Amino acid sequence: MVITIDGPAGTGKSTVAMALAERLGFDFLDTGAMYRAVGLEALRRNTNLEDPRELAFVARHARIDFDWAKHPPTVKLNGETVGHLLRGGEATRAASYVAVVPAIREMLVAQQQRIGRERQNLVTEGRDQGTVAFPKAEFKFYLDATPAERARRRVAQLRSRGEIVDYNEVLGGIVSRDTRDATRSVGPLAVPPDAQVIDTTRMTQQQVVDAMAERVRAASAAASRSAAPAGG
Ligand code: DC
Repeated sequence: MVITIDGPAGTGKSTVAMALAERLGFDFLDTGAMYRAVGLEALRRNTNLEDPRELAFVARHARIDFDWAKHPPTVKLNGETVGHLLRGGEATRAASYVAVVPAIREMLVAQQQRIGRERQNLVTEGRDQGTVAFPKAEFKFYLDATPAERARRRVAQLRSRGEIVDYNEVLGGIVSRDTRDATRSVGPLAVPPDAQVIDTTRMTQQQVVDAMAERVRAASAAASRSAAPAGG
């Protein structure tokens, strides 16, 4: 079974996806980490981030895989565990250049689909998982929240790490990133037509995980009832 979770940054997607996978005993795929890993490799090779051909070359020669024995799975770049290096500002910025290159998206989506075939049960999280990577997924969720709330969460997260940040600047960044994500030609951020949309603005992460797990449980129960022989 594949469960996709899409939505913009700041909706708590990663944390919630990881918790849902844990709750259901599914594997967890963080597709943003793949774009970030290519971004990190591009930085290490001093690549011109504005040049899609150079970025595609870097992506073709980088080996990205996951250690599935770990929970959550750790990301490896050319055999090196790099998870802790992917969340910094530089890798985040580089990933946003990587994510708009169609050739790289094709490569990474193909790899995600291969992982989907290999892992028995998967919760996968990103921007295009229900629309492009797994259009036939059994469950699709789309998490949303107002830009103001997403900015508030991001500011709280950065301040808890001791960073000095300005709310309006963070909000501006979120709004412009949304526009870029939604208007790019390949794999734009979009609500899959058959997705269940959850507005997380006034919800805790725990409530979001509970709501998702309950919907999966209810649908699985209904499916097994209709598959059971009648009259039994
Ligand atoms: O979810 P995240 O912040 O880790 O994503 C990192 C970058 O990769 C961000 O610019 C969005 C992009 N991304 C994407 O375009 N498609 C995905 N499936 C996952 C991430």
